[in-house]
Amino acid sequence: MAKRWYQEHQRDPWRRQAKNSGYRARSAFKLKQIQERHGVMRLGDSVLDVGCHPGGWTQVAVEEVGSNGNVVGVDLHATDPVDGAQLLVGDVRKGETIEAIIERNGGQPYNAVVSDISPRLTGRYDTDQAISLELSAVALEISVKILKPGGSFVTKAFQGTGIELLVEACKKRFSFVRRFSPVASRNSSSEVYLVCKNMVPLGKRLKGSPSLEIANGLRKLGILPDGDDEDVSPAVGFRRI
Ligand SMILES: C[S@@+](CC[C@H](N)C(=O)[O-])C[C@H]1O[C@@H](n2cnc3c(N)ncnc32)[C@H](O)[C@@H]1O
Repeated sequence: MAKRWYQEHQRDPWRRQAKNSGYRARSAFKLKQIQERHGVMRLGDSVLDVGCHPGGWTQVAVEEVGSNGNVVGVDLHATDPVDGAQLLVGDVRKGETIEAIIERNGGQPYNAVVSDISPRLTGRYDTDQAISLELSAVALEISVKILKPGGSFVTKAFQGTGIELLVEACKKRFSFVRRFSPVASRNSSSEVYLVCKNMVPLGKRLKGSPSLEIANGLRKLGILPDGDDEDVSPAVGFRRI
């Protein structure tokens, strides 16, 4: 098993290409492919990169927004400096992290939020998928708080229970929502990216917390127990497994 993983790792063309192009992670090519297809960032934009470590997406975002843009990356782990980006260490489920994110753009709304956030994988698909859903919901929650009307949001999700609820929550807030599987995602991978564009202005979009909507949906499906999480805070997430 370890041998097979090693051989695949060695053969991985995206890993080689990342190394040759100076990107810190092969995942940089996923954002490049999302950007080529859907144009979620523009020159001069302010972009938040959620779950940015080790910095591959941040490098791509800096290239796309140019020297007049502002890229802020946040992760639980410290990321080595990326020229042209501001990097924060913090848990995006915490209010203090969201305050720091807002402050790093001078209190102004952002143009785009790109999120490759992912839990530390346990290898148990259902658990990993559930935690990933919660993190994606938190990224959506942050996006509706900090984006300009018309702004874009990208998030990673794993196929499985509840993903439709996430898609629905996005559709209530963005006029364009598509699933996209970059070629750079591994063939065997069940990951998919949700690309959301054109956030609807406040008066016209559903108010309320996307995390709560998704938690209620999971409750109806019998996946979350009834009566739990009555007072869930959007900045904390909804999972009780
Ligand atoms: C797949 S990696 C991101 C790779 C990155 N996009 C790149 O190209 O270098 C996912 C990241 O999400 C981060 N993460 C997970 N939970 C988080 C949380 N609650 N707050 C902030 N970051 C989190 C992890 O620490 C991890 O570094």
